[in-house]
Amino acid sequence: MARMMVTIIVVLCSFSVLILANTERIQRSSSLIIGSGIQQLRFHKKGEFRILQVADMHYADGRQTPCEDVLPEQFAHCSDLNTTFFIERMIQAEKPDLIVFTGDNIYGADTTDPVASMNAAFAPAVTSNIPWAAVLGNHDQESTLSREGVMRYIVGMKHTLSQFNPPGVGLIDGFGNYNLEVRGIEGSSYVNKSILNLYFLDSGDYSTVPSIPGYGWIKPSQQFWFQQTSMKLQNKSKAPGLAYFHIPLPEYASFDSSNFTGMKQEGISSASVNSGFFTTLVEAGDVKAVFTGHDHINDFCGQLTGIHLCYAGGFGYHAYGKAGWSRRARVVVVSLDKESNGSWGAVKSIKTWKRLDDEKLTAIDDQVLWSKTPSGNRRKKEHTAV
Ligand SMILES: *[C@@H]1O[C@H](CO)[C@@H](O)[C@H](O)[C@H]1NC(C)=O
Ligand SMILES: *[C@@H]1O[C@H](CO)[C@@H](O)[C@H](O)[C@H]1NC(C)=O
Ligand SMILES: *[C@@H]1O[C@H](CO)[C@@H](O)[C@H](O)[C@H]1NC(C)=O
Ligand SMILES: *[C@@H]1O[C@H](CO)[C@@H](O)[C@H](O)[C@H]1NC(C)=O
Ligand SMILES: *[C@@H]1O[C@H](CO)[C@@H](O)[C@H](O)[C@H]1NC(C)=O
Repeated sequence: MARMMVTIIVVLCSFSVLILANTERIQRSSSLIIGSGIQQLRFHKKGEFRILQVADMHYADGRQTPCEDVLPEQFAHCSDLNTTFFIERMIQAEKPDLIVFTGDNIYGADTTDPVASMNAAFAPAVTSNIPWAAVLGNHDQESTLSREGVMRYIVGMKHTLSQFNPPGVGLIDGFGNYNLEVRGIEGSSYVNKSILNLYFLDSGDYSTVPSIPGYGWIKPSQQFWFQQTSMKLQNKSKAPGLAYFHIPLPEYASFDSSNFTGMKQEGISSASVNSGFFTTLVEAGDVKAVFTGHDHINDFCGQLTGIHLCYAGGFGYHAYGKAGWSRRARVVVVSLDKESNGSWGAVKSIKTWKRLDDEKLTAIDDQVLWSKTPSGNRRKKEHTAV
């Protein structure tokens, strides 16, 4: 009898836990819908949308975690808190509309508590009330949380638009593949249309194929999702796109100082195989620039067949770098056209620069990544080519 009572109680308890878990999930998803309604990305009144990219924070335990590769005299007073301070200053200086963290956000191997690490690493974004998005690098999962666990934690954080994976797509490789739409200005004819499309992908960590050494890559399942998403979006309007992930594509090796802007001070640490994602991007046609991190002392942008391939340069102080070469961040500003009647139109240009973590947050390497070709000119050019 006593045994039966215990069984009944246990069954009842697990049942109510199940109900609780389900209610929580339902509440979470509806608040997400409300949340993303409020946080619908949109160009602001000055006709701009500004993105701050933070690459390779390598955050660990905060004040206790020392800096790597700073000058000998800087070492004593340098920790993860310098990374925090740099983000805060960048947010102040640029007032971005979106902050994107392109992986190796935490340095799993040196983190005693990955949740505390993530809370601290993303804190400046969370407290700024600015929407933010993150993808995974190859070091985020090196503590007690798996890649899945890390991404699940991130998507539950405040003010993030990060998503775990696209709903209704079935199995897709990686964790944190998603897209965000940026709508036109309130009051313009583009108020309900995406006029800038942002793609975020998980470029993996390491190859799991024994005969292929080295880093991971963007798998066919992810490329298929990208292709479908891009096609669907382009069916609605010809909005330009930007793609953010961690590990550079092999095509980043196509440049030298004669045809890029910025610095190349180390090799391109892409996967040892070419998964074809660059070709997929060129075929899709909407993505105008790709932004990665991973190689901390490369910070260049170069253009190959109409797509700019850009590094942000290393941001974090507990990451390898180059002593005396400032940590840095990349900013992208997308600007709108004015229609002939004076109302705001579609995207006119996409520009970028970097800022250094020096006293003045010096801005360097301004460049135009893309600008709308007046349709009349294009027709003329094509005609001449024929
Ligand atoms: C790190 O922050 C401390 C305290 O604000 C500052 O004194 C130091 O110069 C910073 N170090 C670097 C390398 O920026
Ligand atoms: C945009 O959507 C809202 C809400 O659905 C609608 O009331 C409004 O008329 C739409 N505006 C335009 C310009 O399409
Ligand atoms: C996009 O439009 C084309 C032509 O109308 C159609 O064949 C295709 O199925 C559409 N694709 C998607 C993903 O909606
Ligand atoms: C950049 O210039 C080098 C020669 O200096 C050339 O080999 C390479 O193909 C160029 N890359 C691109 C993308 O134009
Ligand atoms: C301005 O012109 C565009 C088309 O070029 C039109 O869609 C829009 O409604 C016009 N806006 C105003 C305020 O007249």
